[in-house]
Amino acid sequence: MKTIVSKDIISASELLKSGALVAIPTETVYGLAGNGLNEESILKIFEAKNRPFFDPLILHIADTAQLNDLVESVPDIAKKLIREFWPGPLTLVLKKKPVVPDLITSGMETVAIRMPSHPTAIELLKTLSFPLAAPSANPFGYISPTTAEHVLAQLSGKIPMILDGGPCAVGVESTIIDCSADQPIILRKGGIAAEQIEKIIGPVAVQDSGSSRPAAPGMLESHYAPRKPMLLGDIDKLLDQQKSKKIAVLSFQKRYDEHINRVLSEEGNISIAARNLFDYLRKLDSSDCDLIIAEEVPERGLGKAINDRLRRASAK
Ligand code: TXA
Ligand code: MG
Repeated sequence: MKTIVSKDIISASELLKSGALVAIPTETVYGLAGNGLNEESILKIFEAKNRPFFDPLILHIADTAQLNDLVESVPDIAKKLIREFWPGPLTLVLKKKPVVPDLITSGMETVAIRMPSHPTAIELLKTLSFPLAAPSANPFGYISPTTAEHVLAQLSGKIPMILDGGPCAVGVESTIIDCSADQPIILRKGGIAAEQIEKIIGPVAVQDSGSSRPAAPGMLESHYAPRKPMLLGDIDKLLDQQKSKKIAVLSFQKRYDEHINRVLSEEGNISIAARNLFDYLRKLDSSDCDLIIAEEVPERGLGKAINDRLRRASAK
């Protein structure tokens, strides 16, 4: 199969209507999209990503009216979050209606739904009568793609089309919040910071990360991982300990000119760091280094989502 990279929304729409997969841009990361109500299309997603069936998918919609077709009810807390953060990088977990296939939810009674804000994604979704299932468009466990080129590098030959919407503005995945029970709980840190959410609905619990049977099944401890070994900590100390190796350094602000090095944001801007994170990890991973050494960024705003990804990338 030849993979076309194009900006043509109509072709993407036709392919999706025919049951084929298309990689699509969103403001967070590129998604591998297919008809979310069609089991054959959903199966193709799992196959192309090599993704285990226990890891459920997110449905993407362009209009809040579509929610009522997919979920039993929208609790008040969810309504407040929708009003504030949709379209945008927030995914809500709600009780599903029977129309949502078990393949989407890994057999659970809840479904994850979000409304992306990327204009291309919205325009595409508006041409479709069904929601799009779209996990990040990377092989399972690897670094998520934030450009059309990242997708092409890994899914070339496996899908007919990549819809090019430029580099992703946010750069880390959506925040996932479970609103299906009495108490909301954040299952994945992401593009909307917990502080922003708490301003709207008050204190919210955050799921412990790193358990082997997590409630958000995709939240395995080792995830978003480069192929090269990676250590996270104090860069200077780690460099001292690893003298004999060829090292690539992923730093927050400081430059390490004597090594292969990417600086997430020299001016210390967390949003810019998030936008650069996955691209730089990929570049270091494909350099001829033996080892990647990285440091955490300040734990504020998007910094928590960045550090979560860095910890998972270095967990082996
Ligand atoms: O930003 C994003 O959310 C991107 C873009 C493409 O929209 N998508 C994304 O999808 O990150 P994915 O498949 O890589 O991660 C989705 C995660 C799953 O791994 C799982 O942890 C969680 O969403 N999830 C899905 N359905 C769930 C459910 N019913 N209950 C709890 N967690 C769920
Ligand atoms: Mg993913």
